[in-house]
Amino acid sequence: MEKILVTGGAGFIGSHTLVELLARGYEVAVVDNLCNSCEEALRRVRRITGRDFRFYNADIRDRAAMEGIFAENAFDWVIHFAGLKAVGESCQKPLEYYDNNIGGTLVLLETMRARGVKKIVFSSSATVYGTPEVLPLTEECKTGGTTNPYGSTKYYLEGILTDLYKSDGAWDVVLLRYFNPVGAHPSGLIGEDPKGIPNNLMPFVAQVASGKLKKINVFGNDYPTRDGTGVRDYIHVVDLAVGHAAAIEHCREPGVHVYNLGTGVGYSVLDMIHAFEKACGKQLPYEICPRRPGDIAECYADASKAGRDFGWKAQYGIEEMCRDQWNWQSKNPNGYNQ
Ligand code: NAD
Ligand code: WQD
Repeated sequence: MEKILVTGGAGFIGSHTLVELLARGYEVAVVDNLCNSCEEALRRVRRITGRDFRFYNADIRDRAAMEGIFAENAFDWVIHFAGLKAVGESCQKPLEYYDNNIGGTLVLLETMRARGVKKIVFSSSATVYGTPEVLPLTEECKTGGTTNPYGSTKYYLEGILTDLYKSDGAWDVVLLRYFNPVGAHPSGLIGEDPKGIPNNLMPFVAQVASGKLKKINVFGNDYPTRDGTGVRDYIHVVDLAVGHAAAIEHCREPGVHVYNLGTGVGYSVLDMIHAFEKACGKQLPYEICPRRPGDIAECYADASKAGRDFGWKAQYGIEEMCRDQWNWQSKNPNGYNQ
């Protein structure tokens, strides 16, 4: 069976993808410096799957550590999740974001090239489309015009990976553009565990439901949308994990393979709050606040290319997203730190 290095595997999307890969019989190893995660997530992945794997507590920018990891393992693929992802923080600390996300990826790619490992799946983001000109967004839509350093790291890295393929046609590069990942594994054992006050809507809503936070701040109700609040394409993290495994099984030819991973359906902030109220069985207090700078009105995918090419389609809707996010939140009110 093929062996996969998962960078950032202790994180939210990485841990769910590990479950899917292990269930399909892949051998995996994880490298993560735990800057936004903890080892308990990996212990729980072992518990869910009944399978073991190596964990390297290392920074992907640490060249010697990366060379050591590749010397010890014969990897077929790398799935590259490791990176910093907070949009607001990236505006305060652009150099740290460029260093971690771009610098880290360069060290990873150099190590891969030296070892002849030339298959990589990269965590890209809908943020590379900037402000959408048309909706739904297809993979052919224009990219660039990113509005924050985090988004720019994703846009530049897509370019760097494409240049690498142009320089050496043996590379197999898969760029997966995630829309808004939410939810948790249905076991309630793994989920998103943001440090401090959550930046993203759904973990914030979940913490209001559990009583950790008082009320939801709805950032604007004067957008040109159905109810005036922002519309996004929320996707269950388990669907996203399955998308990675499906992409690896399908993208077997060298090239640059680009796929949107979303449901193709947009929901508003109020839709999501009301769906969560149903899932948790209580009313959730919210307040309409000013728009958050940099936010766009609407963003949703045309995700049909992944369906056409490798039969992937999101299975879960917002009911399951909210059910599983609430299950995780209520069983782990303090995340992994019980
Ligand atoms: P996360 O923060 O939960 O996971 C990222 C992991 O990478 C963490 O475990 C962190 O400790 C690790 N990491 C960061 N820098 C590292 C470094 N230099 N060396 C080693 N490990 C490092 O985030 P996530 O939500 O699971 O996101 C995973 C990837 O998907 C990221 O690249 C993110 O930018 C991308 N993405 C996320 C979203 C989203 O909304 N969650 C959307 C689109 C794209
Ligand atoms: C969703 C909607 C907010 C919080 C971000 C990144 C993007 C990608 C996914 C990585 C918006 C509204 C939010 C709150 C609110 N990440 N909102 N109150 O901004 O679509 O995308 O995560 O690549 O790059 O930008 O996600 O969850 O922050 O916001 O009203 O407390 O909820 O205005 O309409 P976003 P989000």
